[in-house]
Amino acid sequence: MSNAMLSRMLVAVACTLVVTLAASNGALAASGTGLLGDTHKAKAIECASCHDESPPAKAVGTAKCQQCHGGFKTLAAKTERNEPNPHASHQGDTDCAQCHHMHKASDDLCAKCHVTNWRVP
Ligand code: HEC
Ligand code: HEC
Ligand code: HEC
Ligand code: HEC
Repeated sequence: MSNAMLSRMLVAVACTLVVTLAASNGALAASGTGLLGDTHKAKAIECASCHDESPPAKAVGTAKCQQCHGGFKTLAAKTERNEPNPHASHQGDTDCAQCHHMHKASDDLCAKCHVTNWRVP
């Protein structure tokens, strides 16, 4: 096979990949990014509701989250349907950031050691 033919084939493969990615990005755009920061934005929670500094630059601590969401007792009641309960375990009252992130994909502290059957929002 000539080099020219080979490179045309590679271009064709690359184009197919681009189209596939663009299509799935479109689906994501329609349903939002799925990041928790955007969930808050959709509920009209402003940057300044979480960030004390302007413009926002630093991570936001657990105490700020709890001003709106309450403590682990309140949270545990909301996720009682889960077995085990992510908000009530032998890990105690950890920082929200052990699991939830706002502007990047969330983590799952429990999944470091257990198989979990939930999706951390
Ligand atoms: C100014 C109030 C406010 C602050 C501060 C706040 N939230 Fe929220 N949060 C909300 C509201 C309102 C919702 C939407 C609740 C609903 O839909 O019932 C929400 C929803 C959520 C949800 C559920 C999202 C879902 O998809 O089910 C999580 C998780 C969450 N917040 C975590 C956090 C964390 C972690 C912090 C701290 C970094 C935080 N929140 C700070 C008001 C706040
Ligand atoms: C060990 C991981 C973990 C930690 C730490 C954690 N969460 Fe969650 N959180 C979850 C998971 C998992 C869910 C989703 C449970 C489900 O799908 O039912 C959730 C759901 C929520 C929800 C939605 C509850 C609802 O009404 O369905 C809120 C609000 C929330 N978390 C806030 C917080 C806040 C605020 C903190 C810190 C004080 C925190 N979480 C700490 C794992 C965690
Ligand atoms: C519900 C609380 C909340 C809201 C609302 C929020 N942030 Fe954040 N922000 C955080 C948390 C928590 C972090 C720490 C990193 C993470 O969880 O993604 C953070 C980190 C940041 C950072 C530091 C860089 C980084 O990603 O760590 C910047 C910059 C930032 N936020 C900008 C914004 C802007 C701009 C808005 C408004 C459009 C906003 N944030 C709204 C909670 C919030
Ligand atoms: C560093 C590893 C580690 C992490 C992180 C961890 N676990 Fe565990 N967990 C264990 C070990 C070890 C046991 C005891 C072994 C056993 O009995 O299977 C255990 C036992 C449990 C049990 C059995 C009953 C109990 O309380 O002893 C539950 C439920 C549980 N974990 C839930 C959680 C949840 C929910 C999280 C996240 C908030 C979590 N674990 C995070 C290691 C971990």
